Amino acid sequence: MEEFSKRRAALANQLQNNSVSILFSAQLQIRNGDAEYPFRQQSDFYYLSGFPEPEAVLVLSKDDKGDLLFILFNRTHDLEAEVWTGKRVGQEGACKEYNADESHDIQQIDNIMPQILANKAIIYQVMGRCTEQDQKIQIWLETAKKRLATKQRSELNKIVSAPDTIIDLAPIIHEMRLFKSIEEINNMRKAAEISAQAHLKLMQQCKPGLFEYQLEAIFNAHCLDQGCRGLAYNSIVAGGNNSCTLHYTSNDQKLMVGDLVLVDAGGEYNNYAADITRTYPINGKFTQEQKQIYNLVLQAQLAGIEQVRPGNLWDSVQNIMLEIIVKGLVELDIMRGKVKDLIHEQAYKQFYMHSSGHWLGMDVHDVGRYKTQGNWRPFEPGMVLTVEPGIYISKYNSKVDPKWHGIGVRIEDDILVTNDGHEVLSASAPKKVAEIESARN
Ligand code: GLY
Ligand code: MN
Ligand code: MN
Repeated sequence: MEEFSKRRAALANQLQNNSVSILFSAQLQIRNGDAEYPFRQQSDFYYLSGFPEPEAVLVLSKDDKGDLLFILFNRTHDLEAEVWTGKRVGQEGACKEYNADESHDIQQIDNIMPQILANKAIIYQVMGRCTEQDQKIQIWLETAKKRLATKQRSELNKIVSAPDTIIDLAPIIHEMRLFKSIEEINNMRKAAEISAQAHLKLMQQCKPGLFEYQLEAIFNAHCLDQGCRGLAYNSIVAGGNNSCTLHYTSNDQKLMVGDLVLVDAGGEYNNYAADITRTYPINGKFTQEQKQIYNLVLQAQLAGIEQVRPGNLWDSVQNIMLEIIVKGLVELDIMRGKVKDLIHEQAYKQFYMHSSGHWLGMDVHDVGRYKTQGNWRPFEPGMVLTVEPGIYISKYNSKVDPKWHGIGVRIEDDILVTNDGHEVLSASAPKKVAEIESARN
């Protein structure tokens, strides 16, 4: 819990005195009837509290001397409810186990929050995430103002005021989340390692006749068996031409001899994501055409990963990968023209239509800006990103020789920026042609 206290203190250093910061937990979501989706804590809320329950609000109150009070509103003990849904942390637990200075029953929040806001100058909140939450804060502010007006009339000598400034808290927390601590890196290493081993298992067990969801089942089982409590996002298990649909998730088709399968899947460990893609032949052996496209994507990915080191700009990864992919597609006679022109005109977008990757952390597409003051930002130690080039040649692309049809390849790894370069967190999932072909049992 010390890690969470440190984060609150680091955040508080960036907040103005005389302010109140408000952050809501995630809410339980109904799947159907009275059945709920598995609960996953809101990432910003978890980052600052480690608190695992829904129906909670975190408040950081900073006084005019700069002293910080951590107040948690959370569910109170309810023995009857706890028989059904398990033990709650309660108010004492919030203080003892989660280092809250004060904890109140969430049912009391509408009464207590206006008191907390009174005589403060600034509210920090995450703006525009949820209308209901934005409205709640407005109502607390309104109530605070009304109460203060009454007080002003009855105690004429007292100068009282309510906050008159609202500042978005998200960019401040998100800049912090972009730089991973040792503890966070350890969680990400674990998520990546478990997921990489799961990918290896799929490669070994893949065979024609299986349904895509059967590979998905092996992936899920391995991740959960190794301590992930869930997956970081909906797995993509795409055989044959399905691999050309970037976010294919129906995963309900049969895997056919002679096709490739693209598996984009990652486990979530202690709320930290892995995001890994491997593509391989369903019957264990690449065809000539599959191998040519595969090796082109691999060459691009390896060159892209090489760009990841402190000081290099975010777009250096995509720039080098585009050069390689477009040059390769011209050499294979899949594209025609000058490499420079094809890049300038973005003609490659019919085969490679996404960016080089994204930040990775508690969210699979993690928070943090890619540009500062209009310029691509340089890599810095502690950032984690994916590098994930692809080439997708749909069977519906009539401009291309049919021998390439249905070949969709993406290779995706999770990369930590280190002091002197990078570390590939997902390195143990094979990706060289020879390694993949020999992985099959
Ligand atoms: N799994 C989604 C992505 O690769 O961005
Ligand atoms: Mn990704
Ligand atoms: Mn992915």
